Amino acid sequence: MRLSWTGTLVAIGAGVVLGVGALHGWAQTPPTPQAPKAEADKAEADADKAGEYDQAIWNKLHFPSPGSRVTDAQCLACHQEVLERRVRPSTLAGLKTSETLAWYQTLDTYTGEQDTFHRRHLVLPYGKSVMNLSCTFCHRGHDPRDEAPGSSATAASQATAGFTLRKVVDPSKTCLLCHGTFPNKVMGLPGPWPEVRKGLENANVKNGCLICHAQQFRTNRHNVTYLHGAKIEDLAKESSDVCYGCHGGRSWYRISYPYPRHAWPAMSPTVPDWAKDRPTESDPEYRIEDGAK
Ligand code: HEC
Ligand code: HEC
Ligand code: HEC
Ligand code: HEC
Ligand code: HEC
Repeated sequence: MRLSWTGTLVAIGAGVVLGVGALHGWAQTPPTPQAPKAEADKAEADADKAGEYDQAIWNKLHFPSPGSRVTDAQCLACHQEVLERRVRPSTLAGLKTSETLAWYQTLDTYTGEQDTFHRRHLVLPYGKSVMNLSCTFCHRGHDPRDEAPGSSATAASQATAGFTLRKVVDPSKTCLLCHGTFPNKVMGLPGPWPEVRKGLENANVKNGCLICHAQQFRTNRHNVTYLHGAKIEDLAKESSDVCYGCHGGRSWYRISYPYPRHAWPAMSPTVPDWAKDRPTESDPEYRIEDGAK
């Protein structure tokens, strides 16, 4: 009978009694070629996997070039989990998710169960109705060198040059657009929205913003590819929480975004001081020419 190397191991595993000497003897017998080949194959496969991981981290999609268009599907080919993950049913301390509501979840527009950040912005019906965000709107590249000082060839002389500690996104170009403070001073309003709102709204006037913004001021707005401008105006007829939701109602910042100031029909030719440095058009990357929305 010819026992192969693997066959012996199976035999040992199966409990066939072998003397220590016999075992020793087998170990010293030069193994047949298959065994090292299998091991070598596995080692090679492991190395390939490690290599693939490195390659994925340095994938060219993490380094967008100007004008390049990356689709969400291209990112999701590797990052599908960001849209699939769900929140825990309760906190570790036992507070049930279904019984929890944070201050920023009390606007009229908030619906549904607790869900993840990515899904609120990209998948759930309300988010999708007012905006059209894509991965690259927030993730403008993901250069691994940004996460560690001195690791960039272009910043080699100064450990911190160009190092933004930008872990995942740059909030001043993304989040701040929809999560800044309500800029009541430039509007000539005496206080924050929850205070002034009471004097402006009633059963017939559901949206106090539109008292001034339907016809009088800054009526030329939201002509950008990442918002559904017409749908926003439509939904806003029912509640100012639609407008306030992106202009102060969930503010993570004490500053407001310095919005471009588009000309509107009744605009005075005098530019107020606060608006002197403002652009007069949206970021060209996202601009839609009038009427195209
Ligand atoms: C070929 C696969 C692949 C593609 C395509 C890809 N990524 Fe990645 N990405 C990775 C890997 C692998 C990592 C490192 C993950 C880790 O170390 O936890 C990573 C890391 C990231 C991170 C940081 C994750 C963290 O936990 O810090 C972000 C954000 C990210 N990618 C976004 C994107 C976006 C946006 C796109 C599309 C423009 C994209 N990726 C395309 C594979 C990919
Ligand atoms: C509204 C802005 C925004 C959009 C749109 C967005 N992300 Fe993110 N993403 C973030 C922020 C902020 C974080 C860090 C949050 C965290 O750590 O949980 C993050 C974290 C991540 C991470 C690492 C942490 C994790 O949750 O795994 C990956 C990978 C990622 N995003 C991929 C994507 C992909 C792919 C898309 C498109 C389908 C996308 N993101 C769309 C803002 C965004
Ligand atoms: C184009 C506008 C827009 C941008 C840009 C944006 N958000 Fe939001 N964000 C929204 C809207 C609208 C909602 C409400 C979604 C809902 O009620 O389902 C929201 C909800 C949230 C919530 C609450 C989620 C919950 O569970 O209630 C957080 C936290 C948040 N955004 C953080 C961020 C951060 C951080 C960024 C930047 C990485 C960002 N957002 C970028 C519009 C935006
Ligand atoms: C009493 C009138 C009035 C009301 C009510 C009002 N606004 Fe305004 N708003 C203004 C005026 C005036 C400006 C500045 C016009 C200009 O550019 O000269 C302005 C400017 C803005 C700007 C641009 C700020 C900037 O820095 O460029 C936003 C955004 C805005 N309003 C949103 C809202 C929202 C949302 C509401 C309701 C929650 C609201 N406004 C209610 C009068 C009003
Ligand atoms: C989903 C988030 C979102 C909602 C909802 C929203 N806005 Fe905006 N708003 C933005 C963003 C982002 C910009 C900047 C767009 C740009 O750069 O042109 C903006 C710009 C503006 C401006 C500046 C206009 C200008 O001169 O370009 C005004 C005024 C304004 N919004 C008022 C409103 C009012 C009033 C409502 C409700 C009818 C509303 N917004 C609803 C996100 C939102």
